[in-house]
Amino acid sequence: MTDFIHKRKTEHIELSLKEEALGKGVTTGFDHYRFVHNALPEINFNHIDLFANFFGYSLKTPFLISSMTGGAELAETINRHLAIAAEERGWIFALGSTRVMTESEKYRSSFQIKRFAPSIPVVANIGAVQLNYGMTGEQCLRILEWTEADAFVLHLNSIQEIIQPEGDKDFSNLLPKIEKLVRQLPVPVGVKEVGFGIDSSVAKKLTDAGIRFIDVAGAGGTSWSQIEKLRSNEKIKKQAAEAFASWGNPTAECLIDVGEALPNQLMLASGGIRTGLDAAKAIALGASHVGFARGVLKDAITSEEAVLEWMEVRELELQMAMFGTGARSIQTLKESSRLKKV
Ligand SMILES: Cc1cc2nc3c(=O)[nH]c(=O)nc-3n(C[C@H](O)[C@H](O)[C@H](O)COP(=O)(O)O)c2cc1C
Repeated sequence: MTDFIHKRKTEHIELSLKEEALGKGVTTGFDHYRFVHNALPEINFNHIDLFANFFGYSLKTPFLISSMTGGAELAETINRHLAIAAEERGWIFALGSTRVMTESEKYRSSFQIKRFAPSIPVVANIGAVQLNYGMTGEQCLRILEWTEADAFVLHLNSIQEIIQPEGDKDFSNLLPKIEKLVRQLPVPVGVKEVGFGIDSSVAKKLTDAGIRFIDVAGAGGTSWSQIEKLRSNEKIKKQAAEAFASWGNPTAECLIDVGEALPNQLMLASGGIRTGLDAAKAIALGASHVGFARGVLKDAITSEEAVLEWMEVRELELQMAMFGTGARSIQTLKESSRLKKV
């Protein structure tokens, strides 16, 4: 089973870099928004502050590396590069699914990145559906011990599981199990999608279940029906996946929908975020933190220096958007009235 997961992880990394890994005919929705330029910002660029807070952690930026990987040799290298860079720049680091840790010791070290990133929050991850397939609260506690993670996130990936050859398809009765897990774990528990988005009705149920943060992980970037289509040898599934290339709620729409319904819920944005300008729009639409996955992957394979450079560009883009709108802090950007629908 673990070698099987190991192979799958490696394939996911390789395939997600392909152009076909992106959804087709769907965008994040950020292209429908534009900041009205402020020619007289009345702030000193050098005083722009990207400071953000995440469950008691003071961070230099509102950015996170979204959950990607672990449990394979290549994943170990990727996670090390990402963790070292995230520590230096003050980004949150979210691990890929940590389920494999409970099945074998073999690749456990690929998730044990706290040694490279002692001062930033690390988030552990499993598929919520695993709660229907034998994953217990005790195992999640063990994952927290092994990873020394500061938060735990459950991913919802229903459509992916259908096309995935070995997919787990029973998503029934998960909410009470999520609620139980929230009470069992000593760290904040959040929920994310993997690129098809979370709408306000689901977000409300999760919030009522005690979920402390929601990463909408919307459409417009990586598409997991596309990736599983590329992996699959099953003719029927490959054809059906094609119809879902444009599936999902665009990230910008999710932010508006969830933000309006649940103004007090901590909302994270991810899904197709490419630049710090996209991130600025996400923040102005209500996100408190913004995550990148596929966008950093190529550099994460290369070196920590490549990741650091990539991060600096994203930070500068965000600072420029803040300068261009006259927002000195993330909070001011969040409250900005300069984001217009076009
Ligand atoms: C190679 C790769 C592996 C991923 N693995 C996971 C995972 O294990 N758990 C998870 O919650 N999301 C996973 N994701 C989904 C991302 O966290 C993110 O939600 C999604 O890719 C959308 O962001 P993007 O458009 O910036 O890639 C993965 C993404 C990539 C590219």
